[in-house]
Amino acid sequence: MLVDTHAHLDDKQYDADRDEVIKRAAADDVKFIINMGADIASSRKALVVADNYDIVYAAVGIHPEEADGMTSKDDYILSELAEGKKILAIGEIGLDYHFRMDNKEKQKNVFVRQLDIARQLHLPVSIHARDAHGDLMQILKKEGRGVRGTIHCYSGSMEMARELFKMGWYIGADGPLTFKNAAKLPEVVQKMPLERLLLETDCPYLAPVPKRGKRNEPAFVKYTAQKVAELRNIAYEEVSRITTANAETLFLER
Ligand code: NI
Repeated sequence: MLVDTHAHLDDKQYDADRDEVIKRAAADDVKFIINMGADIASSRKALVVADNYDIVYAAVGIHPEEADGMTSKDDYILSELAEGKKILAIGEIGLDYHFRMDNKEKQKNVFVRQLDIARQLHLPVSIHARDAHGDLMQILKKEGRGVRGTIHCYSGSMEMARELFKMGWYIGADGPLTFKNAAKLPEVVQKMPLERLLLETDCPYLAPVPKRGKRNEPAFVKYTAQKVAELRNIAYEEVSRITTANAETLFLER
C-alpha cells in the first residue's frame, strides 16, 4: 500500500466529488493521505476533511504565497489547530521566490516561526521550496535544527539532496518525476537512498503521466511509484513497502 504524503483535498476542485475521490484512493491501495493547509482557512478545512475520513490526516500551515498577511495572532491559531488529533505535520510551509521576490524577509520570517511551532509540538514539517534553495539550506541548518521533515516536490540537485539526507531530511517525489521534460529529479531518485524517499501527489496539481494535464487525485500516486520502480529497476512492491515505511516513520512516530 502507498501513502500520499502531500495532497490538497480541501481544494474547491473536489467540492463536487470529494467523497468519491477519497473512496477511490482507499480502493486503490492508498493507506493514508496527508492533506496540507495553505492558510488558516484551508488548514481548518483540512481538519474537517480529516475528521470525516479514516484514511485522511491533516497538516496545518501557511504557504509562502500566503505569508504577507500572517501575524503573530495566526501563530497562536495555528498552534491551537495543530493540537487536533488527526494532525500529523505543519505544512505546507517554506519559501517561493519564483512566485515573489519582493517579500523575501517576510517569507523567511513566517517560515522560521512555523519551524518553531513544529519544534515545540514535536511535529514534522512539509516544506515547499521554489527558486529559494540557498536560503532554505541556510535556514534548515540554523533555525531548522531539531525539526524533522520533508522537502516536498523536490526540485533541487543531487548534491543538495545528499546534504539534506545527512541532516536527516526526506524528499518527496510526485508527478514531475514522470514528465518527459523532468529536470534533475529522475537522477536524484536513481541515486538516492530509498530510505529517504516519500511519495506524494500534490493533487489537484501536477498529475503524473498518463494523467498529465488532468485534475490529480491521491489514487494517482501509484504512477509515481511505478516510475520509481522503473528508474531503480526494482519491483513496484518494494517501492511501496519502503516508501510507506518511510512515511510511517516520519509522520506517525513521535
Ligand atoms: Ni502543495
